[in-house]
Amino acid sequence: MIYPIVKLLDPVLETPAQTVTVFNAELKQLIADMFESMYAAQGVGLAAPQIGISKRIAVVDVTFKEDPKAKIVLINPEIIHQEGKQRSNEGCLSIPEFREQVTRANRVTVRAQDEHGVWHEHTGEELLARAFLHETDHLNGKLYISHVSALKRDLIKRKIKKLAKAGQW
Ligand code: NI
Repeated sequence: MIYPIVKLLDPVLETPAQTVTVFNAELKQLIADMFESMYAAQGVGLAAPQIGISKRIAVVDVTFKEDPKAKIVLINPEIIHQEGKQRSNEGCLSIPEFREQVTRANRVTVRAQDEHGVWHEHTGEELLARAFLHETDHLNGKLYISHVSALKRDLIKRKIKKLAKAGQW
């Protein structure tokens, strides 16, 4: 099933998500639904809080269906290594229509469980590194706008509140 994407102003996005302890059929279905929801929204990453589920689960596919092996499931992820720097435009399905330059590490290793509960280490560069950081941030209740200046962040939030008031958000 395709879940609607929760947008900024919903407190679930700014709440640290709960650790996953049960690896069952329900979890596998949720992960399949998360990939489906991510593709439907034209995204390359999606975290469970973005569909209103406060659990430490994220899915990533920076190839957007090109390479089935590029589908990555991150359960209870922890960033264990970061190096280098990249600066690029970043957006988020929960903050549609906005993009900002964000500096991130260029090479990142994340340790996470898969849908069977098995731990893996994934190392990525550039967009994949950015996705690991962005999605892990989501599970810690953090959005990419926390990495831009306070001035820019306040401006975005003001615009969104205005849109919400007008019923356009
Ligand atoms: Ni996001």
